[in-house]
Amino acid sequence: MSTNLRWENSLVSRLARESKNQHKSVLLWFTGLSGAGKSTLAHAVEKELFVLGCNTFVFDGDNVRYGLCSDLGFTEKDRTENIRRVGEMAKLFVEAGVIALTAFISPYCTDRERVRQLMPEGDFVEIYCNCSIEECERRDVKGLYKKARQGLIKNFTGISAPYEPPMRPELEINTGALPLEECVGQVIRYLVEQHYVAMKQ
Ligand code: ADX
Repeated sequence: MSTNLRWENSLVSRLARESKNQHKSVLLWFTGLSGAGKSTLAHAVEKELFVLGCNTFVFDGDNVRYGLCSDLGFTEKDRTENIRRVGEMAKLFVEAGVIALTAFISPYCTDRERVRQLMPEGDFVEIYCNCSIEECERRDVKGLYKKARQGLIKNFTGISAPYEPPMRPELEINTGALPLEECVGQVIRYLVEQHYVAMKQ
């Protein structure tokens, strides 16, 4: 525990940053099984938002585990710590006026809820990338399901470790069946309808 600290307030408010950017900042939290299409969807949504003139950044599970979370594995405790760190980091990006997109399996409801509670209402948009385990395993883009079935990877989500789907996500996208463009459209429509971003005339 750190002690003897004092919170230093910024002289530039989040509101001022949002007004300069001409869009709200928000955390788009993509959750789902490995291979469900979280990263693909997050990156495609980011590209679309970038075209609309938004300030964006994608945090991807695999990438973050190369650096910030390279000391963590896949036990329940390590995943919880992974999500805690990512949540705190994404919160800072939202404070900085950015639309942060995170693509992490984040299999535990309580871990995701903890991130939601870090932020004011409306800042955390949970997007459930719903793709069945059968379809993820059929795709097996990284060959990890095969290895998990062979017992070469321990605690593999959906095989030997749990995935708890969100109970009330802001958005549920059928990434198992819908084409990517349709999935992207659903996210962008939500952001426009909820007035996070505006479509250019
Ligand atoms: S999380 O559970 O802590 O949210 P995270 O999204 O960071 O996981 O990392 C998942 C990625 O790590 C997967 O897409 C896969 O490439 C890789 N991976 C390696 N081992 C495992 C495992 N045991 N379970 C799930 N994913 C794993």
